[in-house]
Amino acid sequence: MPWPPCLSVSLSLLSLSLVSPALGAPGGALSFLALGDWGGLPEPPFVTPRQVATAAAMGRAAAELGGDFVLALGDNFYYEGVKDEWDPRFQDTFERVFVSPGLRGVPWFVMAGNHDHAGNVTAQLRYSRHSPRWYGRDTGSPRVPKCPRGSPRVRCGHGQVRYGQVRQGQTGVTGTGEHRVSAYLCGRDHNLQYLEEGGVAYVLSGAGNFMEESRPHERSVPPGALRFFYGSPESPGGFAHVRLEPRGATVTFLESTGRVLHRVTLPPRL
Ligand SMILES: *[C@@H]1O[C@H](CO)[C@@H](O)[C@H](O)[C@H]1NC(C)=O
Repeated sequence: MPWPPCLSVSLSLLSLSLVSPALGAPGGALSFLALGDWGGLPEPPFVTPRQVATAAAMGRAAAELGGDFVLALGDNFYYEGVKDEWDPRFQDTFERVFVSPGLRGVPWFVMAGNHDHAGNVTAQLRYSRHSPRWYGRDTGSPRVPKCPRGSPRVRCGHGQVRYGQVRQGQTGVTGTGEHRVSAYLCGRDHNLQYLEEGGVAYVLSGAGNFMEESRPHERSVPPGALRFFYGSPESPGGFAHVRLEPRGATVTFLESTGRVLHRVTLPPRL
């Protein structure tokens, strides 16, 4: 199966990327798991309990809800990325952790976060040559299913969104005109958030390794925009499942217990 054009040009390790379902298949659905801020620890055991629980829960979710790929939203290796493409962290914090049967053969499309930029991002791109499931910016030709035609346009980045970060504050812009998107996915804050504002759905999934309730920028988000926030320090982590369909999308926030925390259905245009 070749790359669909909508994914091959867009899923970037370095910057914002655009999944343009308009180029996709006429029918069917495309499901993926969105995971952010999941990058373990720089000392043994190189993982957090939350990361391990989340990896297992992602496998179950992929098996039960569908998982054509994983979208890794950055901060893949705490706290300073990797040194080179042979860095043992690729094994310790990625390959040996995400071993659930439900994730077998599932490709990962990987973006870099601020912690990855503290190390060697080129090495993370090059790692595509070493792993059959790790894909950075347009490297190689993995198996990727087609995107449903007419489903919402989705953009993603580690932290580049206008809203959606009640801890870090606003850091980016939304697209306009042809580049206007219906949904943004990001991480950076270490929790789960869903916001709607100005016709854009903001899906924040940053609970793959740490979880915190910190929200000092909450008042800079327009009143009513924040529809869901979950950052319990006792929680074993969480992630988002996104299902793109010809006439809409469903976003499900899951805790790593398997509990559904929040679900929202989106039309092609909000
Ligand atoms: C970054 O990683 C690449 C790929 O492994 C390597 O060639 C390069 O030397 C590394 N850069 C540094 C500064 O170590």
